[in-house]
Amino acid sequence: MQTILDELEQRREVARLGGGQRRIDAQHKKGKLTARERISLFLDEGSFEEFDMFVEHRCTDFGMENSKIPGDGVVTGWGTVNGRTVYLFAKDFTVFGGSLSETHAKKIMKIQDMALRNRAPVIGLFDAGGARIQEGVAALGGYGEVFLRNTMASGVIPQISLIMGPCAGGDVYSPAMTDFIFMVRDTSYMFVTGPDVVKTVTNEEVTAEDLGGASVHTVKSSIADGAYDNDVELLLQMRRFMDFLPSSNVAEAPVLPNTDDPARLEMSLDTLIPDNPNQPYDMKELIHKVVDDGDFFELQEKFAGNIITGFARLEGKSVGIIANQPLVLAGVLDSDASRKAARFVRFCDCFSIPVVTFVDVPGFLPGTAQEYGGLIKHGAKLLFAYAEATVPKVTLITRKAYGGAYDVMSSKHIRGDVNYAWPSAEIAVMGAKGAVEIIFRKDIGDDDKIAEHTKSYEDNFLSPFVAAERGYIDEVILPHNTRNRISRALNMLANKTVENPWKKHDNIPL
Ligand code: HXC
Repeated sequence: MQTILDELEQRREVARLGGGQRRIDAQHKKGKLTARERISLFLDEGSFEEFDMFVEHRCTDFGMENSKIPGDGVVTGWGTVNGRTVYLFAKDFTVFGGSLSETHAKKIMKIQDMALRNRAPVIGLFDAGGARIQEGVAALGGYGEVFLRNTMASGVIPQISLIMGPCAGGDVYSPAMTDFIFMVRDTSYMFVTGPDVVKTVTNEEVTAEDLGGASVHTVKSSIADGAYDNDVELLLQMRRFMDFLPSSNVAEAPVLPNTDDPARLEMSLDTLIPDNPNQPYDMKELIHKVVDDGDFFELQEKFAGNIITGFARLEGKSVGIIANQPLVLAGVLDSDASRKAARFVRFCDCFSIPVVTFVDVPGFLPGTAQEYGGLIKHGAKLLFAYAEATVPKVTLITRKAYGGAYDVMSSKHIRGDVNYAWPSAEIAVMGAKGAVEIIFRKDIGDDDKIAEHTKSYEDNFLSPFVAAERGYIDEVILPHNTRNRISRALNMLANKTVENPWKKHDNIPL
């Protein structure tokens, strides 16, 4: 018996070494941890249960029959994060560059199937060179099966991708179909085709970082939801992130112990809005002052800064926050902001996370660049996402809510449940200057008359009361009492039940 036990331990030791000490050292030299080191940092200590440690590829081309490494380039299994079960796979770059073979794909598929069956999140850690070149179409088939499972699991269990090294070719599409992508700065990059192919096809010379580094995907492409300085920071932040999410679409997100008084008054909010309506202020100050302990996990911080998205808690319970940011482009809605927020609203709705919306929006961004870029369709995404969402929706208008953007930003008309406004709210078709120049065009040039019309417009329309008189605003609230009012509204909505008409699926304007 002892011999068998020894053999098992020996086989395990070989598998744990992956591609060998030389390649592990090379991995460390690049500032990256190994797949197993990453897993042990991410999961609760000692909770990892590995599957398929001894799986090997079956390729016999290009001399591959003489080159087999147990595990075949991906470490898979399950464990817990802050006590909750998650399934995960971590590409092992030390084994054939983490490339995907038929058997490697089967290991990932097993994890995806188990996660879906048992309703727990899947986390993928990517550090790989794409399809195992020696396997040809068998690798492509493997990718296809992984993609299919990503699609089936979408909206049922959270799927999160962590890009921690190269992620090229077939490896990019699985993350792209998951809910969130996070990267490591300087050591990770994602692209469909690498710099060499780009040079051959388009004659462009570009570095891996400039083609698909974190600086590209968190700022320009919006592929990634966030980036961190190194593996350790990313993995520790992901442990924090997981606590905002439920395990599936039939589970509730964890309720964390809360010591922050839900009725806490924030007197400083009474002076947050500047006297001059054209002067910006930082919407993040409002978010931080309203949510539990000021703890806000922002997503896509560096992309479309005119809208803010992220998770926070009220009374220990997860909420999704969407807010116009007057500090960036006056908080205007453009194509990027609309797409960013629409996707976030849909995630929250899939996983029953209530949505809190803070509105200060001067409208949609005019101009040829926006119109040619499909502003109508992108704006409609956000409108559609809010309108179809059945989760509790609480909205607060702090200042401007102009034009179509008023309707879009979780208004009463598209099933906002509780719609509040501060006394400083201005709800109108447009600002006073634009309105007066259109309806009193004949008086342009007569400064006194224009001033009179402007004052009259401001008095009549630039307040929350016209909307409140119609019931479009449920209540005009005191800024310092905002946390209390929103917390109470969410408690009141805790058992909200709304069903959309039966359909195979909707047809959101993509
Ligand atoms: C087999 C691979 C591999 C691959 C890397 N390796 N990529 N083996 N298939 N796709 C192996 C290398 O041979 C090497 O083995 C080890 O992994 C480390 O690779 P290096 O090149 O030494 O590392 P590095 O210099 O860090 O470069 C990493 C890299 C590069 C940028 C990822 O390896 C690379 O460009 N690989 C190919 C990328 C690619 O074109 N993949 C196919 C995409 S097509 P040894 O034994 O020396 O350690 C695709 C289509 C799928 O994925 C589409 C589905 C929709």
